[in-house]
Amino acid sequence: MTSVIDERATEAPAAPSRLLPPAGPGRPPDRLDDHLRRWGPAAGLDDPRGSAAAGLIDAVAAAGLRGRGGGGFPTAAKLRAVAGAGGRRAPVVVVNAAESEPASAKDRALMTGAPHLVLDGAQLAAAAIGARRITVAVHRGDPAADSLAAAVHERAARWPAAAPVEIAQLPRRYVASQETALVRWLSGGEARPTVAPPRPSERGVGKHPALVQNAETLADLALIGRFGPTWFRSVGTPDEPGTRLFTVSGAVADPGVYELAGGARGAEVLARAGGGPGGVQAVLVGGYGGRWVSTDGFRAAPLTTGRGPGTVALGAGVVIALPPDGCGVRETARLARWLADQSAGQCGPCAFGLPAISAQLTALAAGWLDRGGVATLERWAGQIRGRGACAHPDGVTQLVTSALTVFAAEVDQHVTGRCSARPEAPPVCPLPTGDEAEPWR
Ligand SMILES: Cc1cc2nc3c(=O)[nH]c(=O)nc-3n(C[C@H](O)[C@H](O)[C@H](O)COP(=O)(O)O)c2cc1C
Ligand code: SF4
Repeated sequence: MTSVIDERATEAPAAPSRLLPPAGPGRPPDRLDDHLRRWGPAAGLDDPRGSAAAGLIDAVAAAGLRGRGGGGFPTAAKLRAVAGAGGRRAPVVVVNAAESEPASAKDRALMTGAPHLVLDGAQLAAAAIGARRITVAVHRGDPAADSLAAAVHERAARWPAAAPVEIAQLPRRYVASQETALVRWLSGGEARPTVAPPRPSERGVGKHPALVQNAETLADLALIGRFGPTWFRSVGTPDEPGTRLFTVSGAVADPGVYELAGGARGAEVLARAGGGPGGVQAVLVGGYGGRWVSTDGFRAAPLTTGRGPGTVALGAGVVIALPPDGCGVRETARLARWLADQSAGQCGPCAFGLPAISAQLTALAAGWLDRGGVATLERWAGQIRGRGACAHPDGVTQLVTSALTVFAAEVDQHVTGRCSARPEAPPVCPLPTGDEAEPWR
């Protein structure tokens, strides 16, 4: 049995508040005047061809900013790649605000609460790489589109010469916001990933080099543009500078979106969400392409952008605390089924392997699998890894193999038909409904 830790809110760290609006998510979005009063002007916004815009890429490099969309790629390297892509076609900026992770709400909190910070970042990035167009991508039906549209309208009046911003509404599919799928759809195709290279930075939207950047990354970039790298590094650790947004849910007292200093440990994240007063059995970290971690392991480890020994990769900042009466095997089987349905169906290992893994896990959850079947499941996960055109199957197999390790005792119970979790316990990991029929265009 996994050890159940009684989490209490004893270690809540001081809250850095940079990205989230002061009153937190849920309050009306910042108007442009409020936003400029809070943060002051940014030289690169008023004078996009001035020296501030020219120095931005070096400032981002010195700040050590890495992507907040899950992959953690160094942002300055991407800016340089797009700026240097050359050719006759001017680059474009794509703000990835789709937030496909069902348990994530951080980008929506930013887009609805502080849209101008994200748009500042997009505008500064556009000036730095010579882009003439900005597209903000959200999913169809996302309520953030309204606050965004109002913010775009206000800015057009204030900066008429700035790169124009359009809002694009993507199909509600998990893989549609993977960057190659996103630029393919923006170019008039289906929202399915393509093989890279060529990367979006080389051939993006309609063959224009595209800078695809997560909304939180651009909000950070906006602050680096204003206050510089030393200010940015004044919070966090040398390896994890700045702050990070987390969406915490499950068995915690106060689920929600929280901002913590980079390099925070899992214990601090749980404490900020009020702790898990009823106990926490294990934690799902990163997103549904992330992994399960034991509560002890999560509490102790620094949560990091990259992967390293003794650390836990925080991916898109999703943290789900599994309560003591939940079943990690059943939760993972539900997620694997949904994730298999989300495959774009283009690569054999993904289109056929994920449903096979999902069926095997469903059988395990129902108590129909023997030890040989579990070994087969492990083997299939190993065979699929690294064989898709995009990282979707890698995420699924990582989730599944972490479940087989963290819930090893529960797997044994399922094999012998004795799952001790409450059969009627409600699922903990949220899943969207109704997206199966969503078109790919
Ligand atoms: C299946 C899948 C879904 C993804 N969904 C998102 C998303 O919703 N938002 C996002 O910012 N990045 C998402 N990504 C990552 C993007 O491909 C890309 O790395 C990111 O937008 C780059 O921005 P960043 O460098 O600022 O993190 C997804 C990746 C995969 C494999
Ligand atoms: S790995 Fe899966 S989701 Fe990714 S491109 Fe191939 S079929 Fe599509």
